[in-house]
Amino acid sequence: MNDYQDFITKVHRKTGIDLSCYKEAQMKRRLTSLYEKKGFKSFQEFFNAMSTDKDLLDEFLDRMTINVSEFYRNAKRWEVLQKKIIPKLLEKNKKLKVWSAACSTGEEPYTIAMILSHFMPLSQIQILATDLDETVIARAENGIYPDRSLVEVPDDIKKKFFTKDGIFYKVNDDIKRTVTFKKHNLLADPFDNNFDLIVCRNVLIYFTEDAKEVLYQKFSAALKNGGILFVGSTEQIFNPQSFGFETEDTFFYRKA
Ligand SMILES: C[S@@+](CC[C@H](N)C(=O)[O-])C[C@H]1O[C@@H](n2cnc3c(N)ncnc32)[C@H](O)[C@@H]1O
Repeated sequence: MNDYQDFITKVHRKTGIDLSCYKEAQMKRRLTSLYEKKGFKSFQEFFNAMSTDKDLLDEFLDRMTINVSEFYRNAKRWEVLQKKIIPKLLEKNKKLKVWSAACSTGEEPYTIAMILSHFMPLSQIQILATDLDETVIARAENGIYPDRSLVEVPDDIKKKFFTKDGIFYKVNDDIKRTVTFKKHNLLADPFDNNFDLIVCRNVLIYFTEDAKEVLYQKFSAALKNGGILFVGSTEQIFNPQSFGFETEDTFFYRKA
């Protein structure tokens, strides 16, 4: 077994994270640059150090999970969600069950809440938001962001749902209350079901084709009939029918 394969096996055993589901060249490059920076010469040496040094393990986790996010990321897509997808979903159900999967620091589920606020009182909104990485979940629960995270936020929404605090913006408590954050590994943990809307953006690109196919199948099973999967702007599904989906709009798939 080579150095990286051996590392994958040991990391899986220690953390439950299966690096073999992530595109190899990309992941190997990211992790090699980290261990070299730390002065190690191989994955083997890096793993041994990680086993006894919690800070190093956290740094590894931080490097392998790419956490960049933004409110209203790719704003045109969110416009489609607001103008076309949500009204159609609400024709069937007055209350929507929503999951933001791989939510990172929370910008995505809070954006969903802000969009749903156009249709219903905040007290009726309940969004499940999950990520593998506990550090980002803690930041999401804090709800404090630099202004660069808000560049796409419409002015009226910014006024309504954020409070400026020095150079930061704080998401108001009434929006925060609409989101429940939980740790969840998409590649290992069971999925809840009966969702009207699953938003999973900018994480599938890091996974191998095999891992993606398993996930599309699981997302399809987790949706109600007529429910929607919303993926990232580089994550088009090329054979949606194989997973029981039909294309509703670019990057939106309806469970048939
Ligand atoms: C680039 S961020 C995407 C954030 C947000 N969805 C967006 O589009 O702005 C990718 C997130 O996927 C998470 N992630 C990576 N592997 C995961 C896994 N196996 N299960 C759950 N989340 C994972 C990372 O921790 C990271 O927060």
